[in-house]
Amino acid sequence: MKVLVIGSGGREHALAWKLAQCDRVQRVFVAPGNGGTASDASLVTVALHTPEALADFAQAEKVALTVVGPEAPLAAGVVDLFRSRGLRIFGPTKAAAELESSKAYAKAFMQRHGIPTARSATFTDATAAHAYLDEQGAPIVVKADGLAAGKGVVVAMTLEEAHAAVSDMLPANTLGETGLEIRHNEGGARVVIEEFMQGEEASFIVLCDGANVVTLATSQDHKRIFEGDTGPNTGGMGAYSPAPVVTPNVHAKAMHEIIWPTIHGMAREGRPFTGFLYAGLMIDAQGQPRTVEFNCRLGDPEAQVILMRLKSDLFELLLHATDGTLDKVELQWDRRTALGVVMAAAGYPAAPRKGDAITALPAGHADLQVFHAGTTLQDGRLVTSGGRVLCVTALGESVKLAQQRALEGVRQVQFAGAQWRNDIGHRAIKH
Ligand code: AMP
Ligand code: GLY
Repeated sequence: MKVLVIGSGGREHALAWKLAQCDRVQRVFVAPGNGGTASDASLVTVALHTPEALADFAQAEKVALTVVGPEAPLAAGVVDLFRSRGLRIFGPTKAAAELESSKAYAKAFMQRHGIPTARSATFTDATAAHAYLDEQGAPIVVKADGLAAGKGVVVAMTLEEAHAAVSDMLPANTLGETGLEIRHNEGGARVVIEEFMQGEEASFIVLCDGANVVTLATSQDHKRIFEGDTGPNTGGMGAYSPAPVVTPNVHAKAMHEIIWPTIHGMAREGRPFTGFLYAGLMIDAQGQPRTVEFNCRLGDPEAQVILMRLKSDLFELLLHATDGTLDKVELQWDRRTALGVVMAAAGYPAAPRKGDAITALPAGHADLQVFHAGTTLQDGRLVTSGGRVLCVTALGESVKLAQQRALEGVRQVQFAGAQWRNDIGHRAIKH
């Protein structure tokens, strides 16, 4: 059977790599894919970009199943379109994807359903937002509403930073000649201001078919660019699975207090959730998880480490997920740790440089895979084409061994200006 993976990052390369190993899968298309999917003989990369073009392709090729990697096509309604044409696709509808695409919707949803999260307020008016900041004090978190690829969040340690973030995200009102206030926010920009939560973060990802849930292995990523978790936020500089901070007790709480109320709440609100549901957890010193955010997709680079450890057949799993029979599924996992180190381009995250030649990639084997993200083939040569370039992912008997194996792979790769962190997994090593 034929399968289509939508997206072009490391997560999608990992999905395609895993699907290509499934018994009943003959062909895996990746659209638009990257340099890694294009140079892999077991995958077919197709240059398709719009939901309509993807649906036409799936119909013409008789694709049995489509899986969506990133949030943007979900928020654009690709699942709704495929379903309206009778095409099998795994992912949330546009309405369900609002759990990620609108932070204001997600916060209000959590309040309605008693799901633990940071206290928050939403503003369209800059004056009111600034006043609220002064009332609350720092540290405090300012978030732009809408998809911002992880860059619309400012964790402000001082009120000064918080005010600057609000000024950045909300056009201020000014006084007109008559002394009356002129409101400039006609585009409807919104910010969510929320309580700063202390603790350790983990990625808790499940598959849902609208009613049943299967949990994936836990994971953690490192969002900051520099070692020691410092510097600006990125899409993720590395990840590992499992996450030791998610003890059996934390796991049970996350299911009962966050995941199930979300699945039931979405069904009751007429937006049954189908797809990967990713709850970003903040776990405090008492082991109480709260929701930092919802994503309606797999994480990147979490997917790379989770899929490295998945022993079950991903195609059969996704068929159950689209048939509404996830209650019949039990997943098998490699007991070892998987750890992925992202190699990013020079200038990432502010202004990643493109076009650097990439050479000396280590050959993949059972315990090491190089997943591509920002790479492309230029006249048969592999070059960088985006911020996160590669994710070198390894399995090992311990976090330390998986880290060593991944870093050995990283050190072989050559491209000018490569940035990576040598300390991915440091929290798990401490545990
Ligand atoms: P988000 O896009 O909502 O996941 O936010 C990006 C990152 O900002 C998260 O992964 C956290 O590290 C941090 N963050 C977001 N909200 C909070 C919060 N309320 N308290 C502390 N840190 C937060
Ligand atoms: N690694 C975080 C994310 O995918 O959102």
